[in-house]
Amino acid sequence: MRSNTIQIRPAGASVGAEITGVDLSEPLTGVLRDTIKRTLADRGVVFFRDQTLTPEQHIGLARQFGDINVNRFFSNAEGYPEIALVVKEPHQTKNIGGGWHTDHSYDVEPALGSMLYAREVPPTGGDTLFSSMYAAYDALSDGLKHTLGGLRAVHSSRHVFGVARDDRFRNAEAAVQDAVHPAVITHPDSGRKALYVNPGFTLRFEGWTDDESRGLLEYLYRHAVKPEFGCRFVWQNGSLAFWDNRATWHYAVNDYQGERRLMHRITIEGCALAA
Ligand code: SIN
Repeated sequence: MRSNTIQIRPAGASVGAEITGVDLSEPLTGVLRDTIKRTLADRGVVFFRDQTLTPEQHIGLARQFGDINVNRFFSNAEGYPEIALVVKEPHQTKNIGGGWHTDHSYDVEPALGSMLYAREVPPTGGDTLFSSMYAAYDALSDGLKHTLGGLRAVHSSRHVFGVARDDRFRNAEAAVQDAVHPAVITHPDSGRKALYVNPGFTLRFEGWTDDESRGLLEYLYRHAVKPEFGCRFVWQNGSLAFWDNRATWHYAVNDYQGERRLMHRITIEGCALAA
C-alpha cells in the first residue's frame, strides 16, 4: 500500500483518530512521524487499517517513536523479545486487559504507550474500548479539580502480575513495582491536564488509607468511562492501534469464548510524570 494522501478522521467525540493513506511498513518521513505524534498526543489513540507488517517492521516502526520496553510479564513472540504476545487461546476464558486500565502506571517512569497489531482476530467480538482522561478531567467541577490537584496516588503491579499460576502471565516474582504519581498529570507532549488514576493498578491516594481512598476512586472510575469520553475500535486482521497511556484508559472486551485472538504488542518507554 503506497499513498501520499494522509487523512485523519476522529473516531469518537473526545478520543481516537483513524489515520488513512499511510503504509507503516516503510520508514516514516519526519513530517509524517510528527503528524502521528501530534495526533496521538491530541486524540489519545490513533488507528490504522490494512497494514502488513513483519515483526521487524513492527519493531522498526515503534523505534521511530522511542525506546522499546521489553515486557516482564507477557510471553513474547518467538525470537522477538520486544514483541509481547497479547493472546487468548480457544480454551482460555480470561483475556489480557479485560478491565479498564492504563498500562505501566506502576512504573516510576510509565510507558508512553503501545502499538497493538492484530494478527488473528475472532470472527466477531474482541473489540477494544478507549476513554479519554483529558475529557474525564475537563468535565470535573472546579472544586474536585482543585482537590485532585493536591493529591498523588500509589500504583502497583503486585496484585495483577504477582499472582502465581495465572497462565496469562509469567515472572510473578518480578511484580515488585510500586510507584507514586500525581492524580492529575500535565501531559508531557500536549500540555493538557489528564486524570491519572485507574482501576487496574491504582491502590490509594498517598497518605490516605485504602478505605478512605475507595469512595473517591470509585466515583472517578464511574465518571471516567462515561460514553461521551470514549470510542470503540473494531479490529480486523492488519489493524494497528497506537495508544497513549498518559491520556487514555483502555478495555479489551472478552466476548469471544472458544475463539483465538492474537495480537502483537510493542510498548514504548515514557518518562516521569508531573502535575
Ligand atoms: C492490553 O490491555 O494491552 C490489550 C488490549 C487488547 O488486547 O485489546
